[in-house]
Order: sequence, then C-alpha cells, then structure tokens
Amino acid sequence: MEEMQREYVAGLSLDERRRLISGHGFWHLHGVASRSVPHLMVTDGPHGLRQQADDRNSGVSHPATCFPTASALAATWDRALVAEVGAALGREARGAGVGVVLGPGVNLKRHPAAGRNFEYFSEDPYLSGHLAAAFIRGVQDEGVGTSLKHFAVNNQETFRLVVDAVVDERTLRELYLPAFEIAVRDADPWTVMCAYNRCNGVYCSDDRRLLTGILRDEWGFDGLVMSDWGATNDRAAGLIAGMDVEMPGSGGAFDPDLDRALADGSLRQDDIDRSAARVVRLHERAAAARARHGADPVVDLDTHHDLARRAAADGCVLLTNDGTLPLRPAGTVGVIGEFARTPRYQGAGSSLVNPTRLDQLCGALTTAGTSVEFTPGYDGATGRATSAQIAAARELARRVDVAVLCVGLPESYESEGFDRTDLQLPSGHRALIAAVCAENDRTVVVLANGAPVDMGWADRPAAVVEAYLGGQAAASGLADVLTGRVNPAGRLAESVPCDVADLPSDVNFPGVPRQVEYREGLYVGYRFHDTAGVPARFAFGHGLSYSTFEYGDARLDVAATGDTSVTVSVPITNTGRLAGAEVVQCYVRDVDALVERPDKELKGFEKVWLDAGASAEVVIELDRRAFAFYDVSSARWCVGGGGYEILLGSSSVDIRATASVILPGDAPEAVRGAGSGVHDRPGGRSWVADDATFAERLGRPIPTPTPVPPFDRTVTVAELGATRRGRVVQRLLLAVAGRQIATELAGDDERQRPMMEAAVREAPLRSLSTMSGGMLPMWAVDLIVRFLGVGRSLPSPVPGELADS
Ligand code: BGC
Repeated sequence: MEEMQREYVAGLSLDERRRLISGHGFWHLHGVASRSVPHLMVTDGPHGLRQQADDRNSGVSHPATCFPTASALAATWDRALVAEVGAALGREARGAGVGVVLGPGVNLKRHPAAGRNFEYFSEDPYLSGHLAAAFIRGVQDEGVGTSLKHFAVNNQETFRLVVDAVVDERTLRELYLPAFEIAVRDADPWTVMCAYNRCNGVYCSDDRRLLTGILRDEWGFDGLVMSDWGATNDRAAGLIAGMDVEMPGSGGAFDPDLDRALADGSLRQDDIDRSAARVVRLHERAAAARARHGADPVVDLDTHHDLARRAAADGCVLLTNDGTLPLRPAGTVGVIGEFARTPRYQGAGSSLVNPTRLDQLCGALTTAGTSVEFTPGYDGATGRATSAQIAAARELARRVDVAVLCVGLPESYESEGFDRTDLQLPSGHRALIAAVCAENDRTVVVLANGAPVDMGWADRPAAVVEAYLGGQAAASGLADVLTGRVNPAGRLAESVPCDVADLPSDVNFPGVPRQVEYREGLYVGYRFHDTAGVPARFAFGHGLSYSTFEYGDARLDVAATGDTSVTVSVPITNTGRLAGAEVVQCYVRDVDALVERPDKELKGFEKVWLDAGASAEVVIELDRRAFAFYDVSSARWCVGGGGYEILLGSSSVDIRATASVILPGDAPEAVRGAGSGVHDRPGGRSWVADDATFAERLGRPIPTPTPVPPFDRTVTVAELGATRRGRVVQRLLLAVAGRQIATELAGDDERQRPMMEAAVREAPLRSLSTMSGGMLPMWAVDLIVRFLGVGRSLPSPVPGELADS
C-alpha cells in the first residue's frame, strides 16, 4: 500500500516533501498544492470538538456538543454507548470539515491526582483499550480519523514536557502499553499522537523502539504518527524513529537541523519520504471517507444533546444509598451548592468545549416534577463558603424532605497542565457536607469532579452519587438518576482510595524534576488494593443500582485443541423491581503463578440490561492473552501452565461466581524453573521497590535524575530560574508570554489561564520555538543557550544557585 504513496511522493519537489512532514499552522496538516490536495484539519478532542475560530491555540471555539469526559464515559462500561458518542462526535467533525479528531486519550491513571485524569478512561488498561477502540470505531465509521494519544507513559502533568518516566519492561508491557495496543489492533486509528515526556531516557518523539518497533512492527499500525503540540525534540531523530509530522507547524524551525543531518548522512531523504508518504496516505483515507460519507452530514444537535444526557446519566455511579434515592415524587428537595446553578461539567485545557447548551440541576429537577428550593452554599470558583452561606444551607436543609448537596472540584483544581497536590475537596464543600448532613439525615451528596477526591465523610450522607464531569447535559442526566427516570448503571473505572498515602505510586508522584520512577511496578489501582489487602474506600468496578442482580453458576468451555481460549458463561437475573443494568466483570487469577502477579486482573466485561425479573446468559471470551504475563527474558507473552480462577463479579472485591481451569503453559524453561509466584511473597513487603529490586527489574542501574545543564534546548522556563543569567532570560520570556496570553485570552476564556501559565513555565525552550510559528527561531534558542553558559551542572532534585561568571 505505502508503495503507491512513495511513488507519489517521489514525484514531488524536495520542498513539498519537507512541507508535508510539518503542520500547516496550528490545526492543519499540509496538503499538496501542486496536486490540489487541500490541507487537512485536525481538532481536539476527545469529548467534543474544540474547533478554534482561527489559527490560535486558545480562545472560545465554535459551539459543539460537549459530551461527558472520558472518566464519566468510562464509568458507563458500555462499549455501544461510547461508540455512539464517538459517532456523534464524528458527524459533528465531518460537518465542520475536520479530518482528524485529536483523541481518545488512553493513558493509564497511575495516580488519582494526575491533572488530566478526567480525559483518560481508567486505571485498567483492558477497560481503557476496549472503550477507546469503541470510541475510535464510532468516530471513524463516520468518515473522520482519530488520533490515539498520548503515546506513551504520559501519566502526569508536572514536568510533562521533559520528565523521564522510568519504568521496567514488564510493567510497561502489562500496564502502560496494552490500552494503546488494544485500540490499535482492534480499531485501526488513522493516527497516533506521541507524548511529550521521555520514557526510559528517550523522548517519545525520538523513540524508534516505541514508534516503529512496537507500534508498527509488533502491533501492525499502518497510520501516521504526529507529535503532541510542541513535543518534537530532535526532528531528524524523530523521522528516523517514525514520528512523521511535527505539530503544530514550526515555521521551519528544524530545517537547519534537517539539512545538517542530511549532509552528514545521519538522516536519509528516504526517512523524510517515508513520513511524507504516510501523510499522503492520510489524505487519501480522508478523501475516500469524505467521498463515501459526504461532507455534509445531518447533525441534529438536539439528538446529540439527548445522547449526551443519556451518557451522563449512565456515567453516574451510585456509591452509597440507604434508600433515600430515587427521590419520592412528593416533598420538597433542597438543592445546595453553586454547581447546581453553575455546573462543573468538563475539564480545562486542550479539551475545553464550547457547549451548544448547558443544563442546570434545579431546572432539570423542576421539569421532572420535583419541587425544588436552592441556595448556593459556596463560591463556585474558589469553593469557599462563608458562615452566612453555611447558615443558609443549614436552614434550607432543616426544612426540606431531602437535601441534594452538589460539591466537587472547582475548575481551578483540575486541568491539563498541572496535577493536584492532594485529593481534598475545597474547605467550603467539606464544611457544608458536615453541616447539611447534621441537619438532614436524608442528604444526598453529588460529586462533580474528574478524578477521585478524599471521601473520609462518605458514611455521613444517606446517598452519594459520583457524577464525574458529565458534559453539557450532566445536570439532566443526574436528575434522571436522582428521580429514578434512569436506574443508575455506572461503575467506577478507578479505585477511590481511603487515603492517597496508601498508594505505592504516591511515593513517586510526581517525582523529582525531570524524573519519575514507577517503583510500584504493576501495583496500580485495584491491582494494588486487592493484592496488598489494603481496601479502597470504593473499589474498582463498584456501583449500585436501584435493582439487585443475582449471578448463577459460572460455566467454562475450554477449546479442545489445547489452545488456551476459554469461554465463560454466567446467568444473571434482575431480582429487583426495576429494569436496570449489571456490569459483569471478569477477572483472572493465576493460582500457580510462575512469576509475581497481581491478585486478579480484568480480562473481560459485559453490560447487560434486564427488565425486572428477567434473566440473561452473559458470555465472555477469554483468549490466550487473558492468562499471559510478559516475560522479559524471552520478550514475549507467556502462559504459565497450571490453575487459573475465573472470577465474575460486580466489582473487583464483590465476586459473585467463580470457576477454575487448568491450562497448559508455554513459558520458557528458565522461568518455569524459577517458579516464585505471587503467593510465596512474605507478608508485610513493601509495595515500593527498593533500589536493588528496582534496578533488577529495570535490568540496569537506576538512572540519576538528569541534572538540568549543561543547558540545552530542553531547559524549561522554570528551570532557568536556577542561574542569574537564566533569570534574566526567564523574566524576558515570561513578560513576552504574559502579553501573548493576555492577547490570546482577551475577552475569551479565563478558564484556560492556569493551564496556559503552567504551559509556559514548563515549556522547554525548543518548544517555545516550535509553538511560536517562526517568531522565535531555533537559532535564537541556540543563541540563548550559549548565552546561558554551556557546561554548568545543577544539583538535583532542587536546583540551587549557580555562579554565572
Ligand atoms: C495536548 C494534546 C492536544 C494538543 C492540541 C496538547 O497540549 O497534550 O492532547 O491534542 O495540545 O491541542
């Protein structure tokens, strides 16, 4: 296939080929003018279009349906619904002339405080991968491409443009890559976006093993790789690695580097042509899809709003309920909390959508026939509550039948660009929970947040609903759940810890400047809680319904060929009085483990909708990979021979049916001989690898955090503060950036300010150049670097003062 495009490229001038491998401004890939191929528009993504009015990276975008963000979508555990959302997004994108939607994001939720968790699906790669695949199919079936991002190991915002994620190979293979792998193999995204960070020392944009060895050679990806915006590190190395297009267009910032690399032979013209051919292929794909689907789809925004509402309702997770929910039709509901009036429904950053409509809770409840009274309780922006506001909330709570208290994280708490420093709700929200619960023992707390919060208070309210960031129809979807119009069917796609300090990843989050060590290995989320016996406050997969479901006996059919494929069936009955859905989760436990393995791992799931009293047989297929671990010595997935338990349940700790199977193994002799499995582990071990264990897992000494200097193009604006000369440059850059931000935000969306300011502080100089569209040429960066003084090293992790003589 690529041959045809290679021939096509051979017929283009060298200039045209060079143009193809760089973006055209912020939001387009270059077309081929001489052949009348237009530029191709790319647009964020992922839970709605953020199509900018002009070639800027900020400001208000064109209105588009704002669907629930990925954490809410993931809580639906519903492939079909996620595909429907993808399809609606695809239609809006096609109607807007967009060729590729920049999403979905499938990075793993390694730590609950990571700033972009709202944009990602889960702490589990299997769940993330399958939901992402459904999303991709939905969008692409509408004739618009996707960009699976951010490849790879981009699990935090702090230092995200320069940080080195140090992770051992097995953990990489079993936790951080499979979501990408599943999405690539199952759904064939047109493009993949490489991440900003480094992984094991190499910038993802330069990483040949990642972008070609694993992505293309192992997984069969045949699309295009683009950089994250400003992620290109070394353009020549990137081309060799298989990073086809730098985004946004840098105005030729890297051209002198490419010329030098071509001249010294380290880069071949063929490396450029190969990437140019992939751009041509993308154009062809997009043109063929447009021809097939037409450029003018019927976009019914009302229908999309209804879909957003359905998705929001299905993404609500009923965490606790003493029977107060659903609300009875009679009686007055006291709605407390500014979020009921000014909803918190999406996260800030590159995914910020300008919604076509925005529902409010009081209106939605009133429309549903509920009698409502409201008091704001706190300031929506800060989350602070005055004593007068708390008194008003108390007074209202005292006189109503049920109090619905809307709390969560204000916008300034979570965004792309920075991580949270703790999981606390704002003080005002906490005070209100205590005050309102004390007044009314029928208090329902509703949470609007993109990622877990500390819930030490969880046993005080009568019910708790985790509503996540549910998009523009979040309020109506929530009202549907509160009133019982919709029977809640969401399940947590992440664990809610009792205390964030319990988590082994917490010790190394966000790490030291420029380095984060994944010493917890496989023990992220429920893999940690269930293996270590440290219960989460709410377990992975947990979520209540207004109905109840019973599991019958599980049955296994093992393929007779000696293959390791197993078909699991289990009858499920809705034993409640309402129609509803159960999410049947299938975990595998390696009983005779040859190597250390988590207690159990999710390997299948099905959501089944049942009328009251109805039953259905749920069937889940487990392939060989469901039982396998990654053997680093033989660099392949191996199945250890022996017993496996198949656990079917309603959460990772609520197992309702089990079955066992003995499978033949195929692990290498050396691994079989070693035979020290998870169950041999002495009690009380640390879940954070010590130096010796971590080095052994890495197969190399633990790298020392890279000292920032010798200053090079990757020095960040924040790091410049370590030297006197650096501070001079820093002041200058911050002043220019400050003015730039002010212009970009003029009259626009202030919500983007914290993320933009963080982006500047954390930007390496080379990214300032590539994002400046030619205003700050790379030679000027090189000049600055020379001025800063080559060869000085800063102590790490906290850079001290350096002499600048
Ligand atoms: C984000 C990407 C996004 C891109 C374009 C980057 O900062 O990391 O997810 O697609 O900007 O807005």
